[in-house]
Amino acid sequence: MSSLSIPPPKRLEKPLVVPYRHMFGPGPSNVPPRILEAGANPVIGHMHPEIFEIMSDIKSGIQYLFQTQNNMTLAVSGTGHTAMECAIFNTVEPGESVLAAVNGIWGERAADMAERIGARVNTIVAAPGGCFTNAEIEQALSKHRPTLFFLAHGESSTGVLHPLDGIGQLCHKYNCLFLVDSVASIGGAPLRMDQQGLVLNHSRCSQSIGSG
Ligand SMILES: Cc1ncc(COP(=O)(O)O)c(C=O)c1O
Repeated sequence: MSSLSIPPPKRLEKPLVVPYRHMFGPGPSNVPPRILEAGANPVIGHMHPEIFEIMSDIKSGIQYLFQTQNNMTLAVSGTGHTAMECAIFNTVEPGESVLAAVNGIWGERAADMAERIGARVNTIVAAPGGCFTNAEIEQALSKHRPTLFFLAHGESSTGVLHPLDGIGQLCHKYNCLFLVDSVASIGGAPLRMDQQGLVLNHSRCSQSIGSG
């Protein structure tokens, strides 16, 4: 075989240097040293017994973070978008009705994702910076009878923290899954999945997407 015609980049011969920067935006954010150190642990396989213990500990940690005893609590190893797609694609069938609350880009994006799998998508729209009353949400739930209702808890494009109290109960009333995007809010603002009714409902369960 002939020798490689593209040589290795000279730059990659030097060690990687990433400076420390204070980051105060909605993301990316600074990572505590304890978490950075955890990332330096050896890689083990998904069938090594130790991984089951680690996965179980992660599950308990997420249950604490989201304040839930829901057994179907799991971490999706990926970005927030990955978790949004995972939640929507695994709960909605083509032709089913999805309702998205749009008061910034994340509601729009959830609506786009649902449209891509062939759901019938309806939106309630508030001006950027605005939010929805429970009465407005109930009116839309009763009109569109969705399988899934999407709401961004922390709408990072506008900085709005949306109140959640009472909305889980409304979704239960209309037998609808409640998908809450808390990527930008979890850990910074209270979210109580069980108390706020983001829990198992008949054969369906509600989900909350948090940042990893
Ligand atoms: C509210 C919200 N949802 C979802 C996402 C998507 O997360 P990621 O950038 O990790 O895909 C973001 C990212 O800023 C976000 O702020």
